[in-house]
Amino acid sequence: MADNQQFDNILYRKLGKVIEEKKGLKNPLIEILHSAQKIFGFLPEEVLNYISEKLDLPLSKLYGVITFYSKFSCQPHGKYLINICTGTSCYFGGSQQLIGRLEKELGIKLGETTANGLFTLSSLRCLGVCSQSPALVINNDTYGCVDSIEKIREIISRYKL
Ligand code: FES
Repeated sequence: MADNQQFDNILYRKLGKVIEEKKGLKNPLIEILHSAQKIFGFLPEEVLNYISEKLDLPLSKLYGVITFYSKFSCQPHGKYLINICTGTSCYFGGSQQLIGRLEKELGIKLGETTANGLFTLSSLRCLGVCSQSPALVINNDTYGCVDSIEKIREIISRYKL
């Protein structure tokens, strides 16, 4: 581990324990990355270096997995992560319009975080509520039929406190 690490040793100990538990599995990388993101909030480079060393895997392999799965993020995100569904049903149900409205309402683009650190806009594919397109999820709360600016404002207002 590097001397100039940014994150607390406690977090690394937690991750180290997870790695020990999972490294015997057939394909441990996704589960370990998922746990690391839960522990650190995102996947910073120094954490990826740590995982790479512990699993004796090249960093390129880790980045390959991270870029393939949109749920992984190498950037810190806001307190509330808004993921807009861009799966087929939501695409035809207005997800692009929803993204545009949210970008305008929050004053940020997809992939960015508001200056107050409250919201990050992101996208993923299919939340499993296709009949309620367009849909989004804020942290663990799923909302369907988000088809008007009034509904967007009402949902966002729940997270401002
Ligand atoms: S495509 Fe959006 S929930 Fe399935």
